[in-house]
Amino acid sequence: MRGPQPEISDFPTLPPSRKFTAILSVMPSVYIKTYGCQMNERDSEAVAAQLVAKGYSLAPSESTADVILLNTCSVRDAAEQKAVGKMQTLAAEVRRHRPGVVLGFMGCMAQSRGRQLIDKLPDVDLVIGTQKFHRTADYLDDIFAGKLAKVVDVAAEAGSEATIREHLLNGSATDKSVTAFVSIMQGCNQYCTFCIVPYTRGGERSRSIPDIVAECRELVSRGVKEITLLGQIVTSYGKRDLPVNDGKSAFVQLLEAVHEIDGLERIRFTSPHPKGYGDDLVEAYCRLPKLVESAHLPVQSGSDRMLKLMHRGYTRERYLGIIEKLRRARPQMGVTTDIIVGFPGETEADFEETLSLARQVEFDNAFVFKYSPRKDTPAAAMPGQLPQEVKEERNARLLEVINEIGARHYAAYVGRQVEILVEGPSKRNPARMMGRTRSNKIVLFEGSERHRGQIMDLKINRAGSFTLYGDPAIINME
Ligand code: 5AD
Repeated sequence: MRGPQPEISDFPTLPPSRKFTAILSVMPSVYIKTYGCQMNERDSEAVAAQLVAKGYSLAPSESTADVILLNTCSVRDAAEQKAVGKMQTLAAEVRRHRPGVVLGFMGCMAQSRGRQLIDKLPDVDLVIGTQKFHRTADYLDDIFAGKLAKVVDVAAEAGSEATIREHLLNGSATDKSVTAFVSIMQGCNQYCTFCIVPYTRGGERSRSIPDIVAECRELVSRGVKEITLLGQIVTSYGKRDLPVNDGKSAFVQLLEAVHEIDGLERIRFTSPHPKGYGDDLVEAYCRLPKLVESAHLPVQSGSDRMLKLMHRGYTRERYLGIIEKLRRARPQMGVTTDIIVGFPGETEADFEETLSLARQVEFDNAFVFKYSPRKDTPAAAMPGQLPQEVKEERNARLLEVINEIGARHYAAYVGRQVEILVEGPSKRNPARMMGRTRSNKIVLFEGSERHRGQIMDLKINRAGSFTLYGDPAIINME
């Protein structure tokens, strides 16, 4: 079933240099810049892979690209402003010198603002919503062929959750990626009162287990050793499509199916919702050794009053109970979280509950966000909106606690042996190799290309800020 037809403007003429490309039939090059979460990273990768399959090339930077696409995030106002500012710069600097360049927005902000983006930024040619990523290549073909001048397509499309499946794996013919993201579902039904995602990504839609497993198998056959299953709330995977079987939720059934894949070493997933940690999932940690000891479990607040206003669906006590169960199942469990400070009506006492929760759980790390009112969300209209200074002050105080606990956790690794999967050279210092522990801590060591993809034991000799440094303890020679 197709959604409504895209809005297409009555603007028939192509800029001269774009006609030139079309006439020469030289396939254009594309640069995609991504804002926001891992889902966005994954969507961009799939769009890039689809474009490459159609003959487009990937430009190394925006300065030489024929098409520049910004894959946007709406979760906080700052993320939207960044993308809008970037587009203004592209229009003023790139477009002025190369009028044939095609400029587009994709993703969450494209979905929520649609046509308004072109009204505000007339240089924009393309606005592609979150259920239309797979149409990008067709629309670009039409633009270059002179059939379309501008496109806005933010319609819903049944089945679009199954269209994010192509992978680039380093974008080269010699695939070298050791880790890959696999999108298992789209959308969210939780409607937390602060969150714009249900409006930008739509309701929950899950892919089938065989489809996901086939994609994972293909990745493993190309050398991938670790897969991260992705969704807005992965623990809600398949709820409406797959009945609970033998006490196991659809998500646990999926984990079991992926676990069967020979050659796959590690399974991660993000993000779960605390309410999704039934005993079946906790128990899966005891049965499935490929499931790593790592949980990114967004708590948002330590105050029951705030959790209720946020519509989170759990209490502080229930959250603490889940952490305890997980640590009982796997004592080395690395726990990270997301926390919002300055939600409407948050008092000093509420905030102190968040501080005390952070101290009690001892998170390995936490992403702390200052509440940002989002369009059409219930919290944006709640009384008690807090001034920016209060948000800043709470943000700083909470970060201090998080950093102090994190530093203590990391320091405790010095002298210990850890198992890492080597992903490749460190981005910051390519002379060093980088891997992750099962609990998702980054470890750097003096290694070489031949270590890529290996599971290695390292002895930690130093801890930096959220980074460990190690020496090979035993090198697995294969
Ligand atoms: N303001 C601030 N932070 C937000 N998040 C989601 N919506 C908002 C908002 N309106 C945070 C939550 C979520 C993370 C991805 O972003 O902590 O878990």
